[in-house]
Amino acid sequence: MKAKKALSLLMTAVLAATMLTGCGGGRGTEEASQTAADTTADVEKTAEAGNAETAEAEDAAGTSSTGGGIVGVALPWLGTQNWAEAEVMFKEQLEAAGYEAIIQAADQKVPQQQQQIESMIENGAQVIVVGPVDGSQLGSVLEKAKDAGVYIIGYDRLLENTTGVDGVVQFGSVKTGELQAQALLQGLEELKGSAPYNIELFGGGPADPNAPNFFTGAMSVLQPLIDDGTLVVVSGQTDFTQCATVDWDNSKAQSRMDAILAGNYSDIEIDGVLSPNDGIARAIITSCENAGQPIPVVSGLDAENESVEWVWSGRQYSTVAKPTNALVAETVSIIGSLLSGNGMPATDVKANNGVIDVPIYELPPVVVTKDNAKEVFADDPDRMALLAD
Ligand code: BGC
Repeated sequence: MKAKKALSLLMTAVLAATMLTGCGGGRGTEEASQTAADTTADVEKTAEAGNAETAEAEDAAGTSSTGGGIVGVALPWLGTQNWAEAEVMFKEQLEAAGYEAIIQAADQKVPQQQQQIESMIENGAQVIVVGPVDGSQLGSVLEKAKDAGVYIIGYDRLLENTTGVDGVVQFGSVKTGELQAQALLQGLEELKGSAPYNIELFGGGPADPNAPNFFTGAMSVLQPLIDDGTLVVVSGQTDFTQCATVDWDNSKAQSRMDAILAGNYSDIEIDGVLSPNDGIARAIITSCENAGQPIPVVSGLDAENESVEWVWSGRQYSTVAKPTNALVAETVSIIGSLLSGNGMPATDVKANNGVIDVPIYELPPVVVTKDNAKEVFADDPDRMALLAD
């Protein structure tokens, strides 16, 4: 027993030394001069904790000695298809690129996500990719990671109020909102006769930095038409705080829609609804169906399978595709640049996160309606299969 433990300690110490010195590039090289004694002491703590992390770290030794590295991925939850896809695709793409992947999702809970990031640091992650539950609540753990020599990449959502972020990979979030609103208008003109149109507005989870951006983008298109009477928000609820959906919870959106319909639409029809994503779109449509309303024109986001089917059958008017595959590939390519010592790639796009200007690596979102679905998904056999006649 004793001998086994000593061997395990030795192996782990060798691994830790390899991680600090052998991976080439990255902020970690600054720490490479740390003494072996320090390293061993840290490693002993991990080993004595006697948890599964040691085994994981030993697995990682194989990868790091072949020139890979350890990459943590902290996701906010798995409640929408894009995050569930990210979990699978990060594992596949990181491993294919020769990295050890530690992937965890936080069930929308900030303390859980903080702990997960802490444990990734302890397990020797050289890069941590973070889709934050709350964009502004990770400041100290990310700064701790930075001080430990770890690179931090925001994934899909901005990391706010922290210097502990090296860059963010995302689809244009204001642009996404503009596309949602343009699709809503197009659908109203196509399906609901002439103006004025009765509409309602929904936003996403207020802790998610994307949600106010989606809403701002949408309102830049809708507000002038609300002002000139083309669009009538019958409930009068037009502020983001009134329209937001805590935790992106579909059932909360459905309850809000039920209440709006009961309170404002007993003798009029609702023509359209701005929805920030597909799950909320389906909740809104279901609420309208339950209330005996004709289906309104509803926007969406994510091109979730179920909504692609609904768009194809005419039940949901539009969605916006932001392919997870492409966003993960972009992130893995940046990780490659970092871990081969080439730093963050150049980009002209920056966003102020309240403390620093963060480099942004932006991909274009694409609006999808029944008319262009086959074009948009031409290279996506899974979604193409949902468009059968
Ligand atoms: C993502 C959306 C997703 C939403 C809820 C947002 O930050 O950009 O794709 O639907 O979170 O999970």
